Amino acid sequence: MNNLDNQVYPVIWETDKVLLIDQNRLPNEYGYVEISCYQDMAQAITTMIVRGAPAIGVAAAYGVYLGAREIQTDRRDEFILKLEEVAHLLSQTRPTAVNLFWAIARMLKTAKQTIGSVEYIKTALLETAQAIQREDLETCLAIGEHGLAGLPAQPEKLCLLTHCNAGALATAGYGTALGVVRSAWRNGRLARLYAGETRPRLQGARLTAWECVQEGIPVTLITDSMAAHSMKQGLIDAVVVGADRIAANGDTANKIGTYSLALLAKAHNIPFFVAAPLSTIDWQLATGENIPIEERHPSEIYQVGETIICPPGVEFYNPAFDVTPAELITAIITEKGAIAPSALSKLSV
Ligand code: MRU
Repeated sequence: MNNLDNQVYPVIWETDKVLLIDQNRLPNEYGYVEISCYQDMAQAITTMIVRGAPAIGVAAAYGVYLGAREIQTDRRDEFILKLEEVAHLLSQTRPTAVNLFWAIARMLKTAKQTIGSVEYIKTALLETAQAIQREDLETCLAIGEHGLAGLPAQPEKLCLLTHCNAGALATAGYGTALGVVRSAWRNGRLARLYAGETRPRLQGARLTAWECVQEGIPVTLITDSMAAHSMKQGLIDAVVVGADRIAANGDTANKIGTYSLALLAKAHNIPFFVAAPLSTIDWQLATGENIPIEERHPSEIYQVGETIICPPGVEFYNPAFDVTPAELITAIITEKGAIAPSALSKLSV
């Protein structure tokens, strides 16, 4: 996979290292960070150089390979033990997106099930990381197609609202929620995307708006507090968001503020869609109650750029995600089709 076709790929395997688009520098600078060891990959995930559930999964898979290739032993049992230490470090980076754990588990399974020398297992691990990346891109394209088919029939050209960034930058490419938006745009069904800025890290303003501008998709940026008013004004025909972890009953964890949008959509009788790959469903969790919610450093709230925006003595609460109850979700759009949350268990494999 390369970026010669002018598409956005946040993770690129290049000969012997990983290139990550530095998402913290967008939209002002577009550049790559080189990652050659698993410790740097863990750091890149924690600091959100790479972010978005599926992209984190892809990055972690390459992280496992980078760790594997450093292990100096011919003994299979010793190799697996050391690989588990690599996997453990990578799994400590961000707790909410289940794709991270899913990808790491798939890499460990590859190592344990591959028959042959340690060198052979290392090759199989690189191939598995590349497969995870390739499959995610295909999945996003399928989500885009299914999402397009599942959008409201009227009006012909829709105004959609999204939150955070569930775009090419958050996946292997194309995006989930933004994949649906892209497909709508490319098929003449999109009038405009409203992008919520997404405090505190501004993924909507910095990343979603940037992706739209790159592709020529008409985009209007609003602050998070403008969503209710925009809906009341009749500006929004449907809401489409991504997901970090979906419980078996359809309860969905996504970027903080998603739950508010779902409540607002319900109040204004606007359909609310979640677009996510099946790898985002955590079949082990019956409901969203036990989804671990990451809390991040308060500097994300008290600081804008270099400027401190509140007085000393204030306390902070900075959950990075919230859980939208299944009953507020019109449909979950997966690579296998759009499905009501209540019917999700039919997709369980
Ligand atoms: O904290 P982030 O930027 O990693 O959060 C990203 C989101 O919440 C996305 O909506 C989600 O991961 C889906 S990305 C296809």
